[in-house]
Amino acid sequence: MAGIELDCPTQAFIAGEWRAADNKQVFDVSDPATGEVIASVADCTASDAQAAVDAADGAQPAWAAMPAAARSAVLRRWRDLMVEEADRLADILTRENGKPLAEARGEILYGASYFEWFAEEAKRIYGETIPSPASDKRILVIRQPVGVCAAITPWNFPNAMLARKVAAALAAGCTMVAKPAEDTPLSALAMAELAERAGLPAGVFNVLPTTAPAEVGEVLTTSDKVRKVTFTGSTNTGRILMRQATGTIKKVSMELGGNAPFIVFEDADLEKAAEGLMASKFRNAGQTCVCANRVFVQADVMDRFAEIVRKKVAALKVAPGLEGGSQIGPLINAQAVSKVETLVRSAAEAGACIVEGGTRHAAGELFYQPTVLSNVSHEMEIAREEIFGPVVPLIAFDTEEDAILRANDTDYGLAAYAFTKDLGRAFRVSEALEYGMVAINDGALSNAAAPFGGVKQSGLGREGSSHGLDDYLELKYILLGGLGA
Ligand code: SIN
Repeated sequence: MAGIELDCPTQAFIAGEWRAADNKQVFDVSDPATGEVIASVADCTASDAQAAVDAADGAQPAWAAMPAAARSAVLRRWRDLMVEEADRLADILTRENGKPLAEARGEILYGASYFEWFAEEAKRIYGETIPSPASDKRILVIRQPVGVCAAITPWNFPNAMLARKVAAALAAGCTMVAKPAEDTPLSALAMAELAERAGLPAGVFNVLPTTAPAEVGEVLTTSDKVRKVTFTGSTNTGRILMRQATGTIKKVSMELGGNAPFIVFEDADLEKAAEGLMASKFRNAGQTCVCANRVFVQADVMDRFAEIVRKKVAALKVAPGLEGGSQIGPLINAQAVSKVETLVRSAAEAGACIVEGGTRHAAGELFYQPTVLSNVSHEMEIAREEIFGPVVPLIAFDTEEDAILRANDTDYGLAAYAFTKDLGRAFRVSEALEYGMVAINDGALSNAAAPFGGVKQSGLGREGSSHGLDDYLELKYILLGGLGA
């Protein structure tokens, strides 16, 4: 390994121990801003995955039996360590993922907010009593942990997406084996180190870095000992994991792709709508599942709105994430850049106009210019595919019905946005949009108190909020009979 040493573990974390991979192999992690190798990490395979599942299975009964207040205290300590160490964690995150340092720090605090939330929810896993049809019987319902959970997490939020899974699972009394994305394993390993310091018992949380996601994923999705799989990533991979999980009838939660419509009505405050668009679209250089993917603008205000957005986009600072003031870092890898390049080129060939940007950026191989396209049509590939890059495609529409129809004309249903000052329209549109999450007059909807998740091919289940525990709990019905005098 060459390059900068990071203050971060690089071995797998299994059964409370830092271990080399069984086969002693390692893989390099590089900084997308510079291409420099920043760490060599244990490259786990099926045997490591099996060891991690066994460890999580062994730790499960004692963790589930621990009083909720004690589980809550560990999660709270873990959260406090995240906040104390936010600068170091942000540095690791920026180096492996590329996002600007301020955004990385924001992600660490966002991740910590899930620990805070679920540390509190751990104490509120209430049961029920149900009026019985017979006077000598009572019906009780208790909520118990599902068991061992496998988490497969993405590179775009290497801390927060893991945080909102592990915090909920552990609060519920489940144990977990996590497989972070190959591009960004370090943030997950840094989290494991904090778990150790927070006093988490051995085996409750395990982390498997790997360049063999299919092999490791297969162990996690087919093992009898794993009772639930939670995944954030592409719809295609989600489909494969769901198929694999059917063999042992596991619970699954899937947070998959999106194709978010961002609708600007003629009555909207255009300046605020443009600010909302910038917040939604350019977070993590457009590499989020919830970022505006199709920007529908009512024809009467299109020219004005396009010019406001163009000016804001032209002012964005594109630079390595560690450079002061950076707002747009590199994309994650070469495939990501060429996908964006191809989508922009094919839109331009089909008649879209490049109003701003439109090519790679001189800051480095993986940088792409923040781009605005006008005259985009709903049928173009760029409006059908998840762009996952810093590109705003502007599509004109005439009526409210037209906007809703086109917004819903996709297999996806994660997040949607609309800007309007008309309260009636705000309700009509939010109810008609076939999405799991709708933001009115706001471009940022993610927070720990809210249920995050999609409908249609954007996924199953909800993360965050009080509902975020449901997927990690089973209901048990207990009948108490023989109570007559
Ligand atoms: C995602 O892009 O997958 C999630 C982003 C968020 O939690 O806001």
